Amino acid sequence: MTSTIKPVGVKADPRLSGRAVKRVAFDEGTLATRVAELGREITAAYLDGDLLVLGLLKGSFIFLSDLVRQINRPLQVDFLVASSYGDGTVSSGTVNLVYDPETELEGKDILLVEDIVDSGRTLNRLMTILKERKPRSLEICALLHKRIAEGLKFEAKFVGFDAPNEFLVGYGLDHAENFRHLPYIASLQ
Ligand code: PRP
Repeated sequence: MTSTIKPVGVKADPRLSGRAVKRVAFDEGTLATRVAELGREITAAYLDGDLLVLGLLKGSFIFLSDLVRQINRPLQVDFLVASSYGDGTVSSGTVNLVYDPETELEGKDILLVEDIVDSGRTLNRLMTILKERKPRSLEICALLHKRIAEGLKFEAKFVGFDAPNEFLVGYGLDHAENFRHLPYIASLQ
């Protein structure tokens, strides 16, 4: 029997608690297709070695969990937590590690997984810290890249999508800690 249930429009999505969405930038199917492709690209790029997938919390948590299930080789997973704001409201321009991975990084092939590259400040700082741990290789996989970062010292080897310069939420990305659980990525009004 053919289903007559129609998908709920984004405007009626109860997860948005009435907040208006300008548009859906990447829908669920588009994300799943691209994440599967990234998984294949990453599988093909790492023919040997100990791959450690390092997710930068919190934004990467959904992307990372989908991505690692599309990588068809042995790997380990760990996480980093960075704080980018000194007093929680005004950007201090510094990025500090507030959780350090427990796993040994030396000699491993590290893939740092980010949800979005915006100013590039987070990546510049974290990559410098991680390089000091003497990994065998160190690469970046970013789901979204706004391509607006000036002075980006490390380019991402794997990028899901070039992203519009809009305020994006969903699939891990937040606004004041809300909307991370949306299965799609939308821009807020
Ligand atoms: C956001 C995002 C990236 C970073 C990108 O993290 O998740 O990690 O900013 O911005 P940049 O390129 O300008 O440095 P945020 O500090 O908001 O923390 P979150 O991941 O916990 O949301």
